[in-house]
Amino acid sequence: MKNFKKAIIAVLALAMLFSLAACGTKAPAESGEPSTAAATFTTVTDGVLIMATNASFPPYEYYEGDKVVGIDAEIAAAIAEKLGLELKIEDMEFDSIITAVNGGKADIGMAGMTVTPERQEEINFTTSYATGVQVVIVPEDSNIKSVDDLLADGASHIIGVQRNTTGDIYTTGDIEDKGLGTIDRYGKGTEAVMALKTGKVDCVVIDNEPAKAFVAENPGLKILDTKYIEEQYAAAVAKDNTALLDAINKALQELIEDGTVKSIIDKYIAA
Ligand code: ARG
Repeated sequence: MKNFKKAIIAVLALAMLFSLAACGTKAPAESGEPSTAAATFTTVTDGVLIMATNASFPPYEYYEGDKVVGIDAEIAAAIAEKLGLELKIEDMEFDSIITAVNGGKADIGMAGMTVTPERQEEINFTTSYATGVQVVIVPEDSNIKSVDDLLADGASHIIGVQRNTTGDIYTTGDIEDKGLGTIDRYGKGTEAVMALKTGKVDCVVIDNEPAKAFVAENPGLKILDTKYIEEQYAAAVAKDNTALLDAINKALQELIEDGTVKSIIDKYIAA
């Protein structure tokens, strides 16, 4: 009786192992088997979805202890689960993300990343899953009252941004290139905010949700009412990895339709 039980457990364990192994198979071309969702694309590391991000961007990605959490981390985890993959998050400089994805060091980039035509030349974007707004953070007593003050004739402000973000790209074009001020570029949004606190820059142009988080942590700062520009966030996938792009888009679409994406966003952003 005891041995019989053991035998059954062993058979069950073997069956589980085989089904797990089947999930990890992603080379339909070689196997010639009918392709399942998980069998139509390859990832950098078999069975693992590596997400490149820059984890100083609350509430999209930030550290809780030594773990990266946030909207992007949770949406990526939900996508990975649908694809039968294990999610691994790699934290890096924001402007290394596209290179990492294109160079095959990561499968996707997810970092509150704005879809722009320039980036679309380098990388493919998935369906958009969130919107962002570029806003301006100033000290409470600042004489900068609106975005227009930054763009006005004769303006000469020092503007802090995170390097190579859209905040950098837009202010460089609209302000620095027109001789209306200078842009100070920092590796992290938090560093730009520190420069604002110490008076090194006059304002910081950054995405609205991290802006809210940074202002909440730093008394004496506020966000201007006028918005700089509205944008769409999406995940980035290498140009030649269209099978993964399609699989992620399919998973994302399901997660948008069944309300998962909304509930993840609502969990981090108070309505
Ligand atoms: N939305 C902006 C952009 O795409 C800023 C994103 C910064 N993200 C981050 N995780 N630091 O350029």
